[in-house]
Amino acid sequence: MITKLTIDRIMEATDIVEVIGEFVQLKKRGANYVGLSPFANERTPSFTVSPAKGIFKDFSSGKGGSAVTFLMELEKFSYPEALKWLAKKYGIEVEETVESTENKEEENHRESLMIVSGYAAKFFHESLLETDEGQAIGLSYFKERGFSNETIKKFELGYSPDQWEAFTSKALKEGYQQQFLEETGLSVKRDNGTLYDRYRGRVMFPIHSFTGRVIAFGGRTLKNDKNVPKYVNSPESEIYHKSNILYGLFFAKKAIRDEDNCYLVEGYADVLSVHQAGIENVVASSGTSLTVEQIRLIGRFTKNVTILYDGDAAGIKASLRGLDMILEEGLNVKVVLFPDGHDPDSYVRLVGTQAFKTHIDQNRKDFILYKTDILLKEAGNDPIRRAEVIREIVESIAKIPDSIKASVFIRECSHQLEIDERALLSELNKMRLAKARKEAQQNTRIIEPSDYLTPEELPQELPVKKEDSSQEREIVRLLLLYGNKMIDWDGIANTYIGPFMIAELADVEFEHEASKKFVAHYAKEVEDGNLPDEQFFIHFPDKEIVDLAVTLLATKYTLSDNWYEMHKILVPDEQVNMKATILGAIFHLKKQKVGKILDGLRVELQKVEGEAATEVLLTQYMHMKKVEKSISDYLGSVILK
Ligand code: UTP
Ligand code: MN
Repeated sequence: MITKLTIDRIMEATDIVEVIGEFVQLKKRGANYVGLSPFANERTPSFTVSPAKGIFKDFSSGKGGSAVTFLMELEKFSYPEALKWLAKKYGIEVEETVESTENKEEENHRESLMIVSGYAAKFFHESLLETDEGQAIGLSYFKERGFSNETIKKFELGYSPDQWEAFTSKALKEGYQQQFLEETGLSVKRDNGTLYDRYRGRVMFPIHSFTGRVIAFGGRTLKNDKNVPKYVNSPESEIYHKSNILYGLFFAKKAIRDEDNCYLVEGYADVLSVHQAGIENVVASSGTSLTVEQIRLIGRFTKNVTILYDGDAAGIKASLRGLDMILEEGLNVKVVLFPDGHDPDSYVRLVGTQAFKTHIDQNRKDFILYKTDILLKEAGNDPIRRAEVIREIVESIAKIPDSIKASVFIRECSHQLEIDERALLSELNKMRLAKARKEAQQNTRIIEPSDYLTPEELPQELPVKKEDSSQEREIVRLLLLYGNKMIDWDGIANTYIGPFMIAELADVEFEHEASKKFVAHYAKEVEDGNLPDEQFFIHFPDKEIVDLAVTLLATKYTLSDNWYEMHKILVPDEQVNMKATILGAIFHLKKQKVGKILDGLRVELQKVEGEAATEVLLTQYMHMKKVEKSISDYLGSVILK
């Protein structure tokens, strides 16, 4: 842990304008500085830095905080990483407390492995550029493949001499320990205990961590011998976990953020060529199929992934299912194919940067539509196989956490599949229900299957005072479904439905226990500047909330139909008239509350004695009557329009 004293020193030295100024062009305006938000795409500056308070506030994205927060947000640093960055900038020595000997040792161990790896990268790089063998074999190969000196330097490409011990013996001589050479896989132990080089006569691609340190290698053979593996890669180690590394991420992260998109390719060569062509937001999963960790890593920088495939049909089909995982993580997935036989590397070299970009723009297809296309073609006219296709597509769509986005896909796919949108929707709901059920069981293990009611059962499920909780629950349902959607009604803009509803309902006291809790939590999140979504409540630590959320989500379509029928409201599709749906729910609830107050007042009026007291109650009663009337009028005007 970094000591308190060091943190104080860092804070003291930090000039927030200077720090942020390294990333954002700031202009002085009064006491503050303003600039274009680095977190959002904007033309008029809304990003403000207050040197006096040592804070920034971005009115586009809602983000705000200290210089440390800024680095954590922008560079995706952890807290200690951000502090260390600042310490380095201001020349402050970082003191760390020894946590426990065990932790310290582990830290030291990891550090040792990284130091050895860094040394090896330097060794291979120098042997590429400065030895006769490296130049003649490795460098000429890279040149032939079109890699520039700049690319070779930036990615620290290298060459491993074609000898058994060139690297190992040099490393040992320089004092690197055998243990670390073995654990990084750079050296391999013989039966007699001596070490030899894992990489011999290969061109070397160092793999960098997220913060730019070398943690592993891929070594490509230059031989055309089928018995020699094309790539030899580092084994898993304490510093290298293949499943959560993306090749090229360190060099791509800034561009990924700037472009708000990440290109995903297959191999080292693809990353290098595409990057060299000036498209720097590119990473590779390096031959393994994509993992959830890798997707989450991308998700820290952008929600948009574009997969650049080579045109080999078998490969594409095999990867289709894997891509559902990306949808599940809430990312938007697009796909671009290249003409037969070409991968991104060969294609960009063939046609050049401009034509490459044009190809991407013209052939970018949404993953789901693309998948539908491929599967449909394959199924031909076979009705059974077509039914399977439909199922598979809806399965993909069901993985999309954002239900509004999902319904858009349902609509588009219904055209493509030539099948009624309603039918797809009902299939989707079935799958979602099953999924919610499964998740709820996994996460809380409390929800009983009986919590999920068929549409016929639903009205009875509501408590005796049916009206009461159903209207409050309707509010909860709308918050869940549409809270993070932008309002787009005449008169009101630039605000989200959730915060709008919370503000409108500030004077309403919820009675139904779970709804009350839910709305309170929602309000708290809104206060903190968040827009909680379905997932947030599905994974909420409180069982009662999870229960309510899941039940409402699982029954959302049927519930709304009943509800509107009950209230004689002719809005068949609530999304068509969002304004009526939202305002209708708010004011119905308000009307109900006012009705209750009126009931109470009536009871009191019967009991009250004395003229003055009666007068007071009557005044209140009249007032509430007026409120009731105005709500009714308002409801009529909103709903009937
Ligand atoms: P490719 O065979 O497409 O390699 O495998 P490449 O990088 O495009 O190489 P060139 O263009 O033939 O020079 C894609 C990725 O799969 C992994 C590597 O990460 C490679 O970049 N791979 C491939 C291995 O790990 N081992 C192998 O034997 C082959
Ligand atoms: Mn290739």
